[in-house]
Amino acid sequence: MTVEQKLSLVMSKMGGDFPIGTPAPPGSRGGAAFLIPPPNLGLPTLQISDAGLGVADPDNIRANGASVSLPSGLATASSWDEQTATQAGAMIGQEAWREGFNILLAGGADLTRDPRGGRNFEYAGEDPLLTGHIVGHTIAGIQSQHVLSPIKHFAMNDLETSRMTMSANIDSAALRESDLLGFEIGIEIGHPGAVMCSYNRLNELYACENPYLLTKTLKQDWHYPGFVMSDWGGTHSAAKAALAGLDQESGGDKIDARPFFGSNLAADVHTGKVPRARLDDMVHRILRSIYAVGLAHHAPVIQPIDVAADTLVAQHDEEEGAVLLRNQDSILPLRRTAHVAVIGGHADVGVISGGGSSQVEPIGGNPVKGSGKTEWPGDPIYFPSSPLDAMHAEAPGGHIDYASGTDIARATELARHADVAIVFATQFCFEGADVPDLSLPDHQNELIAAVAKVNPHTIVVLETGNPVLMPWLPMVQGVVEAWYPGSGGGPAIARLLYGSVSPSGHLPMTFPRSASQLPHPEIAGVAVTDPFEKMFLTDQELPYDEGSDVGYRWFDAHHEQPLFPFGYGLTYTSFQHENLKIAVRENNVTASFTVKNTGPRAGVDVPQIYIGLPDHAGRRLAGWARIALASGEERNITLNLEPRILAHFDAGQGRWNVPTGKFRFWLASSASDASLATTNVVHGWSIQP
Ligand code: BGC
Repeated sequence: MTVEQKLSLVMSKMGGDFPIGTPAPPGSRGGAAFLIPPPNLGLPTLQISDAGLGVADPDNIRANGASVSLPSGLATASSWDEQTATQAGAMIGQEAWREGFNILLAGGADLTRDPRGGRNFEYAGEDPLLTGHIVGHTIAGIQSQHVLSPIKHFAMNDLETSRMTMSANIDSAALRESDLLGFEIGIEIGHPGAVMCSYNRLNELYACENPYLLTKTLKQDWHYPGFVMSDWGGTHSAAKAALAGLDQESGGDKIDARPFFGSNLAADVHTGKVPRARLDDMVHRILRSIYAVGLAHHAPVIQPIDVAADTLVAQHDEEEGAVLLRNQDSILPLRRTAHVAVIGGHADVGVISGGGSSQVEPIGGNPVKGSGKTEWPGDPIYFPSSPLDAMHAEAPGGHIDYASGTDIARATELARHADVAIVFATQFCFEGADVPDLSLPDHQNELIAAVAKVNPHTIVVLETGNPVLMPWLPMVQGVVEAWYPGSGGGPAIARLLYGSVSPSGHLPMTFPRSASQLPHPEIAGVAVTDPFEKMFLTDQELPYDEGSDVGYRWFDAHHEQPLFPFGYGLTYTSFQHENLKIAVRENNVTASFTVKNTGPRAGVDVPQIYIGLPDHAGRRLAGWARIALASGEERNITLNLEPRILAHFDAGQGRWNVPTGKFRFWLASSASDASLATTNVVHGWSIQP
């Protein structure tokens, strides 16, 4: 290849209607970006679409959308199920391929450091081990369809407020033990063809020109063979970024201040400021991934998607990912003959979704007419998958009424005469802004309290992108966290409510009692209302002094009681855990135990092993199982615990050290469950990355 040919591979161009209203450029499928390689090299055109919950971009090509949406990433994470993650990834990967895309910008792996984060719904929660496994398997599923997925946004893009400019400041050992460990494990499992560097600065340097992040950690320590692509608008220089480890500028013709990896980089290569060897490495990495994921030999074949089959995949994901948080007096599952008052949340027509670049346009259009807002991110979009219709289908003989909830008096009137009242409550989260507080918006708390006051058998179904406070909790009998339920959300919720399927989701993030319990009770700048102004707030520094004590680790270390702990989730049967034994052999720690279904129904249990280091407060998730058991059935389980969870990262030596001493081990049903614990002495060892 000539130098010019090589240079033509290191910058993609904007592919869609940017700015809005502009037609897609010739050769583009209308996605987030595209790249036409030089002719006669046998290389495929790269057609790049958003995002992690489904193919977000075909609305640029076809009217009314054309893709099925998974539930939010938090739902997939709540399944704690690698197989579900793989199937979910394979479904959206295949849709991308059938719609003419060979890169899908999925793989969101930023940790929930704050339960108000605007994009938490796209990611997999607060724990690095769970995040790495869920995101890694989703990526593997996507790439099984010869569609390349990055892992993103690398790294510490954990908040949206001032995301374009802020510096996330964190000690490098803590960084490696938390957010970067999630990426490290996700990369090991998923082998993503690319890593997308994030907008924010990390310890002062922009992520896309941060040599510690891109070269030292990713490429040297982790031996990552793929390429680094920038987030859209995340490149700030040519030579500086290239020398730090950025391999491809995304959408560089329009979205960055200059097309840095165009003429600027060409000049820097010609003058030797950027060595030829570095350009060769950039191109090598891009080509390697094109071949590793099979893009060159499996070009997308545009054809219809199988909407019915794919919606079932999304529905299954939601059925596994919804979390039953409260079930007083076994109010759930519902009797099929019960008189039910369904209230609020537009449950008569659909389920809400999160906004931003990951937004999949619903097949059939948005059934909820919004205010007509045209500025980012527009009105909330609902998928036309009605929980109410699906409940009618589940209980054809039942009596089910609906009230929108906008008129509280009418809603309580309906609830008063019903056996059970179910209030659907929504929270709209979107890319570019964090939610200002942990409360349900729009007087929904008032509505729930009013309904619960007239009907003691009230259930709340939450469709939220984050944890919310529940001031009405003692007044209601049931709470289901359904997250953003996706294209198959209606039937999934109805089947869970009526017990056609038993809940099996477990929280991937802590639900706090109040913002004052968080390491950062306030988000600086969150009150700015214009999302663009908010994203670009300058000179923001965010010292993450809590280090690797993210989420439940922080709560545990500070003896804070959450509203609902990480790992928590109920079902319609009960389980008993027994005989916890820890074995340490040749630098391998295993936990074995027995799980028994002691209840009346079949169900799925997610027993979790947490560990406590001898020299650090706060427990850490080190392994889990997901087991389906018939009533009365019992099973012995042995889990290998993740050694890096038992270790501290030594940033100076660049290795992990498992300390010697007394470790605590808990076999638990959540991060707050202390019922079964044991102490073992571990003789430490070192792990080279
Ligand atoms: C988002 C990415 C997305 C990209 C392309 C950015 O604003 O942060 O997640 O993939 O846009 O649309």
